[in-house]
Amino acid sequence: MSARVIPLHDTRPVRAAPPSATAPPALPLADALGRPLHDLRISVTDRCNFRCSYCMPKQVFDKHHEFLPHADLLSFEEITRLARTFVGLGVEKLRVTGGEPLLRRHLETLIEMLAALRTPDGRELDLTLTTNGSLLTKKAAALKAAGLKRLTVSLDGLDDAVFQRMNDVGFPVADVLDGIRAAQAVGLGPIKVNMVVQRGVNDDQILPMARHFRGTGIVLRFIEYMDVGATNGWRMDQVLPSAEVQRRIAAEFAITALSHSAPGETAERWAYADGAGEIGFISSVTQAFCGDCNRARLSTEGRLYTCLFATRGHDLRGLLRGVEPVDDGQLAIAIAGVWSGRTDRYSQLRGSGQATPADERRVEMHYIGG
Ligand code: GTP
Ligand code: 5AD
Ligand code: SF4
Ligand code: SF4
Repeated sequence: MSARVIPLHDTRPVRAAPPSATAPPALPLADALGRPLHDLRISVTDRCNFRCSYCMPKQVFDKHHEFLPHADLLSFEEITRLARTFVGLGVEKLRVTGGEPLLRRHLETLIEMLAALRTPDGRELDLTLTTNGSLLTKKAAALKAAGLKRLTVSLDGLDDAVFQRMNDVGFPVADVLDGIRAAQAVGLGPIKVNMVVQRGVNDDQILPMARHFRGTGIVLRFIEYMDVGATNGWRMDQVLPSAEVQRRIAAEFAITALSHSAPGETAERWAYADGAGEIGFISSVTQAFCGDCNRARLSTEGRLYTCLFATRGHDLRGLLRGVEPVDDGQLAIAIAGVWSGRTDRYSQLRGSGQATPADERRVEMHYIGG
């Protein structure tokens, strides 16, 4: 049997042809539904040292699984060149993700390169990173020194047995908490903690997590378990709607709604009425937020995805490495062309019972960047 049983990414990427147009794209860019381009999420590795069952189930991502060979990965120079082009087209926020991004060797070098980018009118970018926290005690100081401002740690529970069952590699929760402390100690912030809630798996961790992070300055966000990718065996009955999570929190603590701090934000923000800080709810299953989705995703091997639930990406690496490599102006025209044609609104369609375009296998989340 061949090792790669399931292709994790689209086997037929859209070939991004060098653009025929020569005029620079008209800014601000908007997609076919009028949504601007604001965030770029960059996956720097498809590897992870965890095997969270909702993301990289062990049965699929076992020792036979072949990850991408190093030569297929975008180099730091290629990533930075693409990021600079996206910034020229309106991107103001860069999120480095994976897989587990801290597994990519010398990641701090990339952070330094990205931190040096500026918007066309000279402003710094919002540069952040999503990590499982396992390597943070080692890396926090170097990331801070390289120019990282803030970060988000994924953590699904405080009980060691529950957490180890979820990461499925026996990783102790204490080490992630140490990593969060290390990040705080070097001044990375604001720090957010993302908890994917699965009914019957870790919903008993909602209140312990809320109690633990209240008053720490860390923003805890509860994420509805999503039907992303094609390997996690998602079932609706495992989704605990945010409304229920909120009800459980409100039964113990008074909370009040906050307004959105930025258009296109994923989380509904709430504050503890006693001033102990903020929490958030990310409800892409029960309350889709496609309407103002302004996020583009760059995969580990340089494909541009315009939706988390996409089945096919646009091969930008081919443009960079082709026999006739494109110049920066052509690259911008090609990316703008993809964004202008974007019609994705998967969660909204699925939520309202309409047909979704996912007739092919959806790409996996760790490959395009959560
Ligand atoms: P902040 O700027 O720190 O608020 O980050 P963010 O909310 O943009 O990003 P984050 O990576 O923390 O997103 C949290 C989670 O929301 C992800 O892990 C996903 O589960 C989910 N998510 C993020 N973006 C999307 C999206 O575009 N569509 C859907 N359906 N879910 C998303
Ligand atoms: N549903 C919701 N969130 C998910 N993540 C990964 N898989 C899923 C899923 N099926 C989130 C993780 C992490 C980020 C990388 O993506 O919690 O915060
Ligand atoms: Fe790794 Fe994050 Fe996926 Fe868990 S959710 S397997 S930590 S990439
Ligand atoms: Fe954006 Fe797609 Fe998520 Fe909708 S489902 S919010 S279009 S990434």
